[in-house]
Amino acid sequence: MRDEPLVLGIETSCDETGVGIVRGHTLLADALASSVDQHARFGGVVPEVASRAHLEAIVPTMQRALDEAGVTLADIDAIAVTAGPGLAGALLVGVAAAKGYALAAEKPIYGVNHLAAHVAVDTLEHGPLPEPAVAMLVSGGHSSLLLVDDLTAGVQPLGATIDDAAGEAFDKVARLLGMGFPGGPVIDRTARDGDPRAIAFPRGLTAAKDIDRYRFDFSFSGLKTAVARWVEARERSGEPVPVADVAASFQESVCDVLTAKALDACREHGVQTLIIGGGVAANSRLRLLAEERAAKLGIRVRVPRPQLCTDNGAMVAALGSHLVAAGVSPSPLELPADSAMALTSIAVAG
Ligand code: KG4
Ligand code: ZN
Repeated sequence: MRDEPLVLGIETSCDETGVGIVRGHTLLADALASSVDQHARFGGVVPEVASRAHLEAIVPTMQRALDEAGVTLADIDAIAVTAGPGLAGALLVGVAAAKGYALAAEKPIYGVNHLAAHVAVDTLEHGPLPEPAVAMLVSGGHSSLLLVDDLTAGVQPLGATIDDAAGEAFDKVARLLGMGFPGGPVIDRTARDGDPRAIAFPRGLTAAKDIDRYRFDFSFSGLKTAVARWVEARERSGEPVPVADVAASFQESVCDVLTAKALDACREHGVQTLIIGGGVAANSRLRLLAEERAAKLGIRVRVPRPQLCTDNGAMVAALGSHLVAAGVSPSPLELPADSAMALTSIAVAG
């Protein structure tokens, strides 16, 4: 299948500098440099630190990806880059680099939507997207439910978080439990030794009064506050905090709400496939609960392997490849980085 497009993808929307290379749906390289350690002591990503780290990492990461794939820039058919949404300064580094490479090597450029790339990456693991599908994207910066009829044309937002993102809730709860950053992986591990039914934490926006207006929306801020109050009460009474039980019960609340709403969206729209993406999709309990509940409804769950769920260059290349194959026109070379890029825009129009 040599006629499938060879596409390079650049991702710099948050704290990962990623360069991926795909041919069609086949992953050839996925080079990554992360500045996560530099943000750890602040308990969250510091935009200026992230931008500087991208600047230092972009050229060597690019070289690693080309070496890993055994190709040169001249072999590449198109360059895709995350144009938004994300941190403005961080996006600018990737967009400027992509323009430089595209101009130097005379390649078409696609400025693509980060969230749509989280959906497209699943094609590298499970093949062409079954459409329509519902996609649930859960990361440190976003929590959205989307209806994907035709990824090249755009996606329809069904709902999103009204306050904290799911990953942000993991990060904040980990911080208050003194567990470090990022919080998701450590809560996931700690929760394995805890009882998910030990503490009945609230399930945001699931009460009958909220369903009319917020059926497919999420809220995690109240949950985070409930965990903080519970831990404070324990500490005040001089009792030890059962960290594993708190982690497991918190995680259960998040996963219960996410899976219930995602599957409700599938039922409502008569959709047979649920795709889960974003960093929180790496969560072991979320994957298991989604599988269990979906199986009962005859719905198929597609979740890429954890390295493809978190931010990376391969996802951007995967979306680029999808657009090239569909005959979508490239973006103009003067394409802007758009920190608030709307979901209705999959790529910056040419
Ligand atoms: O998609 P991502 O790499 O970056 C963006 O935020 O766009 O997601 C990072 C988020 C962090 O909040 C991190 O705590 C969370 O994903 N995360 C997890 C797990 N692994 C990463 N959350 C829950 N369980 C995990 N195993
Ligand atoms: Zn992301």
